[in-house]
Amino acid sequence: MLEPATRKGMHRMKPTDTAAGGRRMVDGWPVADEPLPADPMLRLAYYARLAPSSHNSQPWKFLVGQGEIDLLVDETRWLRVADHDRRELFVSLGCALESMRIAADYAGFGSRVEYFPVAGSDTLVARLQIEFAGPKREFAAASLLEHAVTRRTSHKPFDPALAVGEDARKSLYACYDEAGVSLHFLAEDRRAMQWLAELEREADRALFADPAYREELAAWIGEGLLGTPWLISKIAQFAVGHLPVAERVAQDDADRVSSAPLVAVLSTRNDDPEDRVRAGAAYMRIALMAESRGLRVQPVSQALEVEATRTGVARLFDLRERCVQHLFRIGHAEAERGPHRRRPLKDLVIRETGPAIGTGNG
Ligand SMILES: Cc1cc2nc3c(=O)[nH]c(=O)nc-3n(C[C@H](O)[C@H](O)[C@H](O)COP(=O)(O)O)c2cc1C
Repeated sequence: MLEPATRKGMHRMKPTDTAAGGRRMVDGWPVADEPLPADPMLRLAYYARLAPSSHNSQPWKFLVGQGEIDLLVDETRWLRVADHDRRELFVSLGCALESMRIAADYAGFGSRVEYFPVAGSDTLVARLQIEFAGPKREFAAASLLEHAVTRRTSHKPFDPALAVGEDARKSLYACYDEAGVSLHFLAEDRRAMQWLAELEREADRALFADPAYREELAAWIGEGLLGTPWLISKIAQFAVGHLPVAERVAQDDADRVSSAPLVAVLSTRNDDPEDRVRAGAAYMRIALMAESRGLRVQPVSQALEVEATRTGVARLFDLRERCVQHLFRIGHAEAERGPHRRRPLKDLVIRETGPAIGTGNG
């Protein structure tokens, strides 16, 4: 097994140190909001916990065993109204799965995935097998791990005058390799961007017209996981539940879309849960690659949550028979600050078996 602390360029680091960019490192690993566990298997889950998820719902559980992690859906955290077909749920789980694999790449472990290993059940999303001394996966992405602790979804308007250059676009394009998943860009076409902004506005109006949608959104805002302080969350929860805020939200969302120099969509040939998980894995890599290049990313989900606008998005990107899985804008803005708002790792790990393997000064 290659020990994380002996990775190239890190061997002289003290157990706790600060890397370039102000990242806190322990034992050669980037640290987020919680102490880093010593057990390498728990370390994989540690980074999965930082993955993006719709409404920051974190709809996952990790069954950690000897050389194996089962990634499970936490049904209680599924957005039943906004995400009635569970597309966003599986995309979110794909982000968590890929985070674990990137952490395994970083440790020098091999990893293999079995998708939906129990026939007829889509609660067990993936079984991740870790080969501590095994060959690394073919398309490893160890260098993306350090960005997992600084990556944030951007909610700011982007600077429309600052393009995402050809070179950056190529690196986003080249950073993932998922069976059946394609990436399409929409750039430098103001009319198309305006059309997309209109689709987002139309979707917001349709969604806010549904009391069940407002109630669900208000409940998640009230949980305080969406990045707002407690009091603001409570006020926002009340506003979404009781006040006519739809037009304001629709306008803000449309403005954010039209400010983007680049919009991207991930699509798949089929529309099975596995396709969605794979689209999520691709998004995870793209978001981390964007972060590594100082680019900001924000998913644009509302336009995909309403059938008519989702069809409009597919037409705009000329996707024909392909299935739209995830839409997001990319551009330049100030970095988002503030703490990670994540549930503690101990609440996400169902079972820990076996002794800590290898080293670590958590
Ligand atoms: C499938 C999916 C859909 C999302 N949709 C949106 C969205 O429509 N608008 C938005 O601002 N963020 C969206 N997000 C981002 C989450 O809100 C974000 O990941 C979560 O709040 C955690 O914050 P972080 O990404 O900054 O760590 C989405 C994320 C995923 C994985």
